[in-house]
Parts: sequence; structure tokens; C-alpha cells
Amino acid sequence: MCIMELESVKYSYDGRKNILKDVSAKFETGRIYAIIGPSGCGKTTLLSLLGGLDSPDAGRVAYQGEDIEHTGLANHRKKNVAFIFQSYNLIDYMTPAENVALISKLPPLPILQRLGLTREEAGRNVLKLSGGQQQRVAIARALASDAGVILGDEPTGNLDEDTAEEIAGILRESAHKMNKCVVIVTHSNAMAKQADEVLRLKKGELITVR
Ligand SMILES: Nc1ncnc2c1ncn2[C@@H]1O[C@H](COP(=O)(O)OP(=O)(O)O)[C@@H](O)[C@H]1O
Ligand SMILES: [Mg+2]
Repeated sequence: MCIMELESVKYSYDGRKNILKDVSAKFETGRIYAIIGPSGCGKTTLLSLLGGLDSPDAGRVAYQGEDIEHTGLANHRKKNVAFIFQSYNLIDYMTPAENVALISKLPPLPILQRLGLTREEAGRNVLKLSGGQQQRVAIARALASDAGVILGDEPTGNLDEDTAEEIAGILRESAHKMNKCVVIVTHSNAMAKQADEVLRLKKGELITVR
């Protein structure tokens, strides 16, 4: 099922060259997408439009068929999407369990264990976890939310390639088993390999590579 769609989206930062020229794409539930492309090509910009952090100059961004301008961007951010950042963005005076409990009524432990944390690690202060473990917590938090779409901006950018591959595998499995739509901007080959579909952004155009 198509959950998010970009329809002829155009975007530029005031008067400068077009960052996005005429971008259309469909994103389905239960699938993981990798968006690749050179630095500065507009990947973060594209993700911010999907996440309702900004509006396109022309065209439409739709969630379950509804233009997110109509939903309201703040509503869209709150209900429909969850973000995973390169820098984890966890609340650092809390434990993983408390971080997950903040955004979900589900018991946090099963989802943290599913992502490979032990019961002891789930109760530890997040700053006493490795980068890979902190990113697992950020993913658990996104998965525990009601959001149908998970957006990641280089979520493995701070991790070594082996850990990146493991995290990519977790995201892939989560998309498939929990029926989430996962859209990841990445430089990592390991991450792109795990994606069901790879899209390349180049010179303002988005092309399906595989
Ligand atoms: N707030 C902004 N104002 C003006 N230009 C910006 C702004 N944010 C990004 N840009 C420019 O837009 C282009 C695309 O940026 P970005 O989406 O961050 O690319 P990527 O994530 O692919 O590296 C870059 O040339 C960048 O310098
Ligand atoms: Mg970027």
C-alpha cells in the first residue's frame, strides 16, 4: 500500500538554483527505501519535505492520499512520521526504557530487547551505552510510536561499517515485520544494500536505481 507520495515537487532556497526540479515518488508500507546522492544534492531537503518540516514551492506531499498541507504540518509531524537522526537525539539523563516510554504506551522492554538491548542496558543511563546501542534506542523509540513512516537522515553516519550493517538489518526487518515505511538518506553502501529500493538524487531529479 502506498503511504506517502511526492507529486511533481519543486523546491529551491530563495531564488538559488533548483534543489528539487520535479520530483515524484511513491513510498509503500512494509518497505525500506535508501536515498543516495552526492553531498549537497538535496537529500536532507527532500527528507524535511516528507517530514513536514518545510513546504514545497510547487507540487504536493501526501500521506495516505491527503496533502499534508491540509493535514497541517504540525499534525503530520506529530502523528504520521518519526525521525531518526545521525546524532541519536535521545534524552540523555534518562534510560532507554524512559526514552521509549515518553512517546508510547507500549511496554518499552520488549521492543528494546527485540533491537538487541539486554534488560540491564534498557535501565542504564543512555550516555553509558555505545553509539550503536544509542542508535538502537532511537530506532526503538521511532518504532514504538504510531507513525507509519520512519525517516532517517544518515542514521548510521556516526557508526563503523559493521555496526552500520547491523543497524541497517534491524531497520529492514522492522519495516518488513512491523509494516512500517522506512526512508533513509545514506552514504553507506551497507545501508543501501539492505534497502528494498534505492533512489538516487542528482541535479534535482530523483531516479530509481534498483
Ligand atoms: N537553509 C538553507 N538556506 C540556503 N541554502 C541551503 C539551506 N539548507 C541547505 N541549503 C543548500 O541546499 C543544498 C542542498 O542541501 P541538503 O539538502 O542539506 O543536501 P544533502 O543533505 O544532500 O547534503 C546545498 O547546496 C545546501 O548548501
Ligand atoms: Mg544532508
